[in-house]
Formats: sequence, C-alpha cells, structure tokens
Amino acid sequence: MSTESKPGGSLGVAMKRKEDPRFIQGKGHYVDDISMPGMLYLALVRSPYSHAEIKSIDISEAMKVPGVKAVITGKDLEAAGLGWLPTFHGLDKQMVLAIGKVLFQYQEVAAVFAETRGAAADGVEAVQVDYAPLPVVADPFASKTDKVILRPDREAKTNHIFHWEVGDKDGTARALAASPKRISQRIWFQRCHPAPLEPCGCVAYFDTMGRLQFHVTSQAPHVYRTALAIVTGIPEDKIHVMSPDLGGGFGNKVPIYPGYVCAIVGALKIGRPVKWIETRTENLTSTGFARDYHMDVEIGATPDGRVTALHVATAADHGAFDAAADPSKYPAGMFGIVTGSYDFPTAHAEVDAYFTNKAPGGIAYRCSFRVTEASFAIERAMDILADELKIDPVELRRKNFVRKDQFPYPSRLGFTYDSGDYHKTLDTALEALGYQALLKEQAEKRAKGELMGIGFSTFTEVVGAGPSKHFDILGIKMFDSAEIRIHPTGAGIVRAGTKSQGQGHETTWAQIVGEELGLDPQNIMVEEGDTDTAPYGLGTYASRSTPVAGAAIAMAARRVREKARKVAAHLLEAGEADVEWKDYKFQVKGVPAKSVTMKEVAFAAYTNMAQNEPGLEATYYYDPPNMTFPNGTYVAVVDVDRETGEVKVRRFLAVDDCGTIINPMIVEGQIHGGLTEGFAIAFMQEIQYDSEGNNLNTNFTDYLVPTSLETPHWETAKTITPSPHHPIGAKGVGESPNVGSPAAFVNAVVDALSPLGVRHIDMPVTRDKVWRAIRDAEARKT
Ligand code: CDP
Repeated sequence: MSTESKPGGSLGVAMKRKEDPRFIQGKGHYVDDISMPGMLYLALVRSPYSHAEIKSIDISEAMKVPGVKAVITGKDLEAAGLGWLPTFHGLDKQMVLAIGKVLFQYQEVAAVFAETRGAAADGVEAVQVDYAPLPVVADPFASKTDKVILRPDREAKTNHIFHWEVGDKDGTARALAASPKRISQRIWFQRCHPAPLEPCGCVAYFDTMGRLQFHVTSQAPHVYRTALAIVTGIPEDKIHVMSPDLGGGFGNKVPIYPGYVCAIVGALKIGRPVKWIETRTENLTSTGFARDYHMDVEIGATPDGRVTALHVATAADHGAFDAAADPSKYPAGMFGIVTGSYDFPTAHAEVDAYFTNKAPGGIAYRCSFRVTEASFAIERAMDILADELKIDPVELRRKNFVRKDQFPYPSRLGFTYDSGDYHKTLDTALEALGYQALLKEQAEKRAKGELMGIGFSTFTEVVGAGPSKHFDILGIKMFDSAEIRIHPTGAGIVRAGTKSQGQGHETTWAQIVGEELGLDPQNIMVEEGDTDTAPYGLGTYASRSTPVAGAAIAMAARRVREKARKVAAHLLEAGEADVEWKDYKFQVKGVPAKSVTMKEVAFAAYTNMAQNEPGLEATYYYDPPNMTFPNGTYVAVVDVDRETGEVKVRRFLAVDDCGTIINPMIVEGQIHGGLTEGFAIAFMQEIQYDSEGNNLNTNFTDYLVPTSLETPHWETAKTITPSPHHPIGAKGVGESPNVGSPAAFVNAVVDALSPLGVRHIDMPVTRDKVWRAIRDAEARKT
C-alpha cells in the first residue's frame, strides 16, 4: 500500500463540494465513424458446423469477386506464426482462423478483404469450404465423460480444463454431515451475452513510419498493445492503440478477437487500412459469452436458522477454448465470494471447467469475474433454506449477516471484506418498502388463491482488482494509473489507464481532481484509451475503475497539491510547514485571511515559482491494498398470473452501498442500467444451443433486449459505508445491480409460487416455464 494513502481521505463519507449532479462530460466518436482513403473492409467466413474437420478451403471463386483484394486462411496465418492467440490468463490458446477443424458454430474460418462492405460479403459467400462433420459435445456433463476429445491439440487428452477449489473441504463435509438441517439444489446460471449496442470492431493501418495505428473497441487498450506486441512480434513502441468512444462493453470488449488479428495482418500484407466491424449475429455467436455455471449448492443449518456450512461444486461450460477473461491465478474468478454476506463458520467451493462445442468466453459481464454466479447461487440457496426452515427469508438473512463490528471480516474462502453495514442497508430497504404492509397484502392474496411474491437479495460483491500481488492478466500485474497536468490558468487534463464505455469517467475523474485541488471540474479534461498518451493501466471492467484508477487520480492530485504547496508558500511568504490546505485553498496556519487559491498557485507555477521546479503535474500508479466490497439489499415484488404464467414486476427497490459517491446522477444511471440488464437475464435472455451445437439466439428477435415498455420502474436508495483503504472511500458500483438483481427477481417468483410447492426455477424465468411450474405443481396436488 502506498504510504500516501489516507484511510477515509479528505473527502470523508461524501463529496464535500456540491457539484451540480447533472454535470456530465462526453464526446461521441466511434470506430465505425472512421473512414480513410484506400480503406479496405474485412469480412469473415464462419463455420455452419459446431464440430467438423476442414477437408479443403477453395478461395478461387472468391478472388474473382469484383473488389476482393485478398483472402487468408488459418494455414496462411500458421505459416506466419500467427495461427494461435494466447488467452487472457495464459492457460490456453485460441485459433485465430480455424486450422484443421472447427470447434464451434460461427467460428472464424477465412478472412476476405475487399474495397467495399458489399464486396467483402460477396467474397465470403464465394469461399468454398468442404467440412466433414464430427460428433458434437454441447453439454459440459457429456464433455466430462471424455468420450469425444475436443482439443487433441492440447497435451492433456481430456475435455477437463481445470479444477479449482478454496476453503476447508473436510471440515465443510464434517459440518454438513453434523448439521441438523441441510438443503441442496442444483442452480444453473444460464449462458448469456453482454450484447453491447455497438458490436466489436477495429481499423488497422501502418503509417508512413511503419507504425501500427490501431483503432479498436477495447476496454483495455494498454493490455492490447502488449498482447499484440507479444503475438505479432511488432515492437511495442511501433504499436499505437486507440480506443475511442464505446457503445457499451460490459466485459465483451476485453478479449482480443480473431477479427482484430486478421485486420492487422491484412493491413500489413496489402499495405492499406483495413476496417472490421462485426454484425450483431457475429457478436452474439462468437464473442465472449458470460456465465454458464451449473452450481450444486449445499447449506447446513441449525433448526433455528443459523448457517453452519456451505459447499458449492460447479461444472463450468467454457466452450471451445478456455478464453475466460479471469486473472491468471483465479481460473474461476472471484467465485470465492460465494459465502456472500453471511458468516459461514466453514465453507468449501470448487469449480471444474470443461470444453464443449460452443463459442469461447466466460467473460466478466458487468461483474467482477464470476461474482454474479456466486451471488446468485448463495442468494437463491438462502431462500430455499428459509423455505425449508419456515423462517422469513429476511429474518434468516438478518440472523446470519456478517455484523458491522466484524469488519474487516476474513471470509472462510479467503477474502477480507473491507467494510459494510448489512443490517442498516436491509433496514433501510424494509422501511422504504413498507415490508410489513406487503406481507399483510400477500397473506390476504394467498387466502384468495392469488400469487404474489416478495424476493430479497442481500448481496456482497468484491471489486477493484489488484492488489498486484494477487492479480495479473498475461503476467501484467493489476494496478492502475493517472497523470494530471494543471495548466497556468487552472484548467487541466487528467489521463488514466482506464477506458469508459459509457460509465461517465469523463465526468467523475474530473470531479475527483476538482475536489482534491479546489478547481472547477468543468475545466478538467479527461482522456483515456490512447496508449501514446495515457499512463499504463489495466483498463475498465469488473467495476475496477473507481476502486483502482479513481484512487490513482486522487493520489496523483495529492501529489500535485504537495508540489503546489511549495509555490503557495512562496506566494504567501511563509515557510512550507506553515501552509495548510483548508477549504479548497492554501492558507497560512491560523491566518485564514492570508490564502491563495489553486488557480493562483497554478499561474505562479509557470510565472513566479521562485526556486521551485516549474510546472504543475504528477503521475501516480496505484496498487490497491485490498479489493472493495460494495453491497446492497434488493427487493422485487411480483404478481404471477395463475392462468398464463405471466410475471408482473410490480415494484423493485435497490438499496446500494458503494461507499463515497462521486456523482449521484451517474451512480443512479449505473444502477438503472444494471437493473435493466439483470431483469433481462432473469426473465428473457439465454444463449441456447441444440444438441448439434447450433446457436438458437443469433439476433435480437431471439435474444431479447428489454425496451422501456418491458422494464419495471426502479426505486433506489443508498447507505454509505466508505471503504477504509480507498483514498476517497469509494467502492465500485457499475456491476452491483447486475450482480444483485437476478436473485431478487427469481426469489420473488419462487416466493409467489411457493404455496404450490415450487422450490426453484432456472433462469430465464419465462412465462412458459412459470406456466409449466404451476401446472406441474397443480398436477402433483391432484
Ligand atoms: O469500472 P467501471 O467504470 O465500470 O465501474 P465503477 O468504478 O463502478 O464506476 C462506474 C461509474 O460510476 C464511474 O463513472 C464512477 O466514477 C461512478 N461512481 C461514482 O460516482 N461513485 C462511486 N462510489 C462509484 C462509482
């Protein structure tokens, strides 16, 4: 931990300067807006089969299509040493273009470069590939049997990718065996997809100096630069990665995709700029999916509802390549958060991952690496336990919460939760909700045979990777960085190693600088995403921006302040030790009338600095001492139509605790957006495959994205428990609503159906599934 970090920081529990919460900065320049003279378009030939040998690829007809300039195949790339890409954690590699066989439907098989988008598409149609279908493995439990080995290219001749475990295996087994009450449930978090509105894309060209200029939809531009240098052999200084505005990312724009490598190879080979923009179908079928965890959850408890042990065994479907975007040492991400907000005396979690003939991925979709799966499992299982014990789910949670006085709390699965007040957050929710009145209403409705449900999720997240001693991607340690320059007039620029995809860093980073330096954030420009100018950073995903880069910005600003203090002392004709920073000004201790503003100091730093070093700038690389642990209480209230299975979300309340809030309006926007995505996952979204590995959700008519018509009204509230180790006490927030909400929705539906004896429904909780659950339950009763 940096010695300059002050617990609680100068901001205390909330930003002191009352900025206009509507103050939002932004730009508006996307990869597909780029047009260059001589630019070629890249389109990819994709496999219709999910598992097949490639007997031959004939490009002769494609080369005759007017406008087609070149076609390359996997063999061409292999000959150039570019056949395979390392995956993020370095445990596997992924074919750029298929070599020998295809392993999932829509896998990239050949790349066509042409003068227009239309010509490139025609060229794709004209490439003739002769496939010999192979037996398909579309399910991880079938994969487990190793009857068909999907990846003979690997040394280990098994479909099993890894076994990971944490906690006390024997102690947990003993505690479960000794527990008077036990529940167990298989809970599947279905395969879903982040589906950002802007799909992935890039423009690659080599400038007159032979330097690769690479505009790309990337959440982690510096990591791209390093990875491209390693993969292509181009020296890192000859690679310039620029990630302009992004139309959403949600983890989908962290991996390096084959289209990017092909665009660079095409630009090098043909000597012209190349643009590649995915179609919606390509995005949904071949880029990083999320979840697909089959979790067997067991909880032991006393008859009065004190939890005694937790065991979770997971089968993870990783698809054709192990391209999960998890830190190197955490193949199952942060799944160890599966004990959630509860003080389990013992616990054990294990994850086994398998290859299948599906698209690769397992990315952190608006989630800190598998936290969503873990959170869903524990929050669903706590409700099942409450049902079994005939205890109110609220009381069960309250009884087992980690108490305020237990923080910093070492969980049995290895994390030290930094702070929280779960009882307060729950109580805030119950009061805002009018819980007792809702219970009364529910009892009245149940007496009439109506189905009303109230579902809780009292989740804890773990966000903000580093610390670097635990976290890396491709060996690059996870820290983040900021550089601040204050210009003579008190305006300035802050550059960070993160990359906003719509989260509003342009606003919040300026606010942190404004708060720390007493300057107007409207005149602090924010720049991210350009590897030539931004300091090296690991990028934006897993809600790490505020916990890590936000901290780096505050610390860099404090360095600027220390430098400014010397100039202030000169202006105030006082000793440096006699000058203090108070009320956003430098003043002589005890003499408030003798003061100078940062704006005055900034001007002097360039015009009247005496013996001090001219200029006013600083850089800070922040390696967090711990993760931050945002948490919340979410409650869904639903009515279920007994005849049709239709679920109406009547109310949804989200009480979040993300520590110090930098910008209330941005936080509100993050919560609304994340709840909408959580709602979609709970009720609508699944990337389904048939037994032949055909993807059944290849577009937005089959993979539903909610509009304002379907989306419920969101009620929100906050509690504020600052992170004790973050310089301004802030925790991440962007992921919380997506992590916490699915369980609240499903718990509400199951609660509505519980009088019928329904105990669990897997997501997405579609009308059809609910209708069947009602019919099956009624059939059981008769
Ligand atoms: O890493 P990512 O930007 O996705 O997530 P985040 O750190 O949770 O931040 C999302 C947005 O909310 C950023 O603009 C943050 O600065 C803002 N935020 C805030 O205003 N106050 C917080 N306590 C946390 C985030």
